[in-house]
Amino acid sequence: MYMYAGVQALGTTEAETEKTSTSKPLVTIVVPTYNEAENIGRLIREITKSMENSGYKDNFEILVVDDDSPDGTCLEVRRLAEKDRRIRCLLRRNKKGLATAILRGIHWARGEYVVVMDADFQHPPEVVPKLVETAIRTGADIVVASRYTRGGGVSGWSRLRLLMSKTAILIARILVPGARSTSDPMSGFFLVRKSVVEEEKLNPRGYKILMEMLEKLSYSKVVDVPYVFRNRLAGKSKLGARTIIDFLIHALQLSPMTRFATIGLLGALANLIVMSLLLILGVNKYLASLAGIEAGILFNFVFHEAWTFKTKLKGNWKERLVKYHLASAGGTSTTFLTMALLTSLAGFSAVAAQAAGIAAGFALNYALSLTKIWSRKVRATVKTGRV
Ligand code: GDD
Ligand code: MN
Repeated sequence: MYMYAGVQALGTTEAETEKTSTSKPLVTIVVPTYNEAENIGRLIREITKSMENSGYKDNFEILVVDDDSPDGTCLEVRRLAEKDRRIRCLLRRNKKGLATAILRGIHWARGEYVVVMDADFQHPPEVVPKLVETAIRTGADIVVASRYTRGGGVSGWSRLRLLMSKTAILIARILVPGARSTSDPMSGFFLVRKSVVEEEKLNPRGYKILMEMLEKLSYSKVVDVPYVFRNRLAGKSKLGARTIIDFLIHALQLSPMTRFATIGLLGALANLIVMSLLLILGVNKYLASLAGIEAGILFNFVFHEAWTFKTKLKGNWKERLVKYHLASAGGTSTTFLTMALLTSLAGFSAVAAQAAGIAAGFALNYALSLTKIWSRKVRATVKTGRV
């Protein structure tokens, strides 16, 4: 399914390894391309120049992942690869999209560090060695080239485009906890330590691959490096208006809030069913309410453990169960009191009053669960200033 063009191996003989080994790590620069023939040659030359200026010689490779561009992007890369063994083109026969191209590139990367960037000069080649140096200096697993940290920016954008970009970031921050560790979670320009990329955790249908990595992978530190996003050198953007909808779906899919709400809804149903059954059996409405509430709590707990917060479990489940009861206490009392008030003062039926109470307690319960029980692993975020 995949075909290589260009070099097969870097530094294969021992003598060569000896000669080229330095203290610098091996770095792979992954460039996904679709119809970038006009840009790719110059980009490769400029990346090579800036890596060599930073002391990299044989310890970097440029891996272009091309989806069989009709404009011959891969042929262009092959032409350069004939003269330079650090250059490779991975050619995929059926166009499968940007996110899968990036993941394939990371899969085949030989570097300890992988830098991902666009082919169109929107991501300046001179920033590539800065990302690598920052990773080495700080020990970060992920380094994000950011438009939105001090020293970064965008050039030539309308106010509307900037507003849309910032709104998307705000939405990502609200929905996806992992997106909070950088100022630019939508960036298509970033470095990742190859060893933290557990491919099976990532869903290549997801469009914003960095946001997905920030949410799903285990890593210790994220650092931002500022850069100025420029206009495309040549050709057209491949990402259209549909990407906004794709982004929203992706953020919702990644969000624990979506899973939390789904389970919460089913838990509420369990609550009401248990309560109704008990009422039918002639149990008093207060007891039936409490039993329904407890059934809902147990239902939610089991599924939050197994699904909602699956990746964030730490410590002992019994302890979490107790904490969950405590954290739910506000919501539980709200439900119970609402039930009691609405039945005695407003003439509601017991089950309808309980349903209203559940809705009132939900928001409180979510906030407490997220912050007190299933909080993420400790993760440091360092923001750098100018580089
Ligand atoms: N292999 C492959 N397959 N490459 C693709 C495909 C595809 O289906 N679609 C796009 N690319 C390549 C392009 O050739 C380019 O090198 C890079 O992926 C990004 O595509 P652009 O078309 O330049 O995207 P953009 O400039 O609109 O969006 C960029 O900036 C966004 C931030 O504003 C990307 O970097 C986004 O990831 C980023 O979020
Ligand atoms: Mn671009």
